[in-house]
Amino acid sequence: MQTERDFHTGESMTSETSAEEGEDIRSLADEEPERVLDLWERAGLPHRPRGRDAVHGLREQFARDSDLSLGAYVGRTLIGSVLATDDGRKGWINRLAVDPDYRRAGVGSRLLAEAERALAKRGKRIIAALVEDWNEESLSFFQARGYRPHDDITYLSKRDSEEA
Ligand SMILES: CC(C)(COP(=O)(O)OP(=O)(O)OC[C@H]1O[C@@H](n2cnc3c(N)ncnc32)[C@H](O)[C@@H]1OP(=O)(O)O)[C@@H](O)C(=O)NCCC(=O)NCCS
Repeated sequence: MQTERDFHTGESMTSETSAEEGEDIRSLADEEPERVLDLWERAGLPHRPRGRDAVHGLREQFARDSDLSLGAYVGRTLIGSVLATDDGRKGWINRLAVDPDYRRAGVGSRLLAEAERALAKRGKRIIAALVEDWNEESLSFFQARGYRPHDDITYLSKRDSEEA
């Protein structure tokens, strides 16, 4: 038995989840960012450790948005992540990743559902995701879960460096 933090309340709770019982989704508030970066590496999710994915920034994000920063675990092994954000108008699904060894078993769907629940608790009525057009796996995933593409929108960004 291990003590974990509830992702809705931030309070400690007791988890009895074991590898045999399947995965457990919980806040990343106490997680080491390096383990999350390792997961993204395994999942083939591009990341920028010298920019927006720097360890100190991730640690701050996990603590600040503890209800929106979620990990999927089998025992103590991190097998999935989602870092949702709330920009005040919309909720965003970012950094959804599942370890390749655990895919097509519903882990991504359960992470998405928990992130959607947390955003709904914050009053968000629109939830959006940015997906690169080559990422057919992810495009199918989101469309099968009620997200619709907008072919009339172009993503624009302004950066202070290529690392950002
Ligand atoms: C997208 C991702 C998170 C899905 O995780 P998952 O645990 O496999 O998701 P689930 O098992 O809940 O759902 C899988 C669904 O995704 C879609 N999907 C996944 N792989 C697919 C493929 N090769 N072809 C078509 N659809 C696919 C299907 O809708 C599938 O549902 P099904 O198994 O019922 O057919 C995972 O593939 C991943 O980590 N990809 C790499 C990281 C990434 O690109 N993240 C998205 C960034 S926006």
